[in-house]
Amino acid sequence: SCPRDNSVVKDINKMHQSNYGIGGFSHITVAGALAHGMKEVEVWLQTISAGQRTPIHRHSCEEVFVVLKGRGTLLLGSTSLPYPGTPQEIPVFQNSTFTVPINYPHQVWNSDEHEDLQVLVIISRPPVKIFLYEDWSMPHTAAKLKFPFVWDEDCLDAPKDEL
Ligand SMILES: *[C@@H]1O[C@H](CO)[C@@H](O)[C@H](O)[C@H]1NC(C)=O
Repeated sequence: SCPRDNSVVKDINKMHQSNYGIGGFSHITVAGALAHGMKEVEVWLQTISAGQRTPIHRHSCEEVFVVLKGRGTLLLGSTSLPYPGTPQEIPVFQNSTFTVPINYPHQVWNSDEHEDLQVLVIISRPPVKIFLYEDWSMPHTAAKLKFPFVWDEDCLDAPKDEL
């Protein structure tokens, strides 16, 4: 069931939250294309437990992160090699913001041993089309499209709000 809610003001703590089968992870679609009729941008609130990582992935949308809690490491691969290659490791910390350019393979890693990493994420061009890499040496052309992504699966068949 798709948690559609077109009210103007929503309490984030009462919005649908799930780990979508991913261990040490939690996701809330704060403002989404499928659930809330967003057209140009989408906003997520995500929490990654100590030591956990997102999959290595890329998408052809812009992505802005705001770190609300904790600290971690952004791993950023290459688009000029035929595969991501050894990623740059960029420390991120509470109250920092960072962006991931279009199509860059990346991974967000909660490299802290104790604290959760909580990020607010803004993406363009929703719903997101995510290409997954098994590792940093997998060719870009072999990365696998997962669409709809896990948090969009329940909503994909819902009629889009065209107002
Ligand atoms: C982040 O900002 C909040 C609110 O201003 C502040 O309480 C907190 O100490 C800041 N954290 C860091 C690591 O600077």
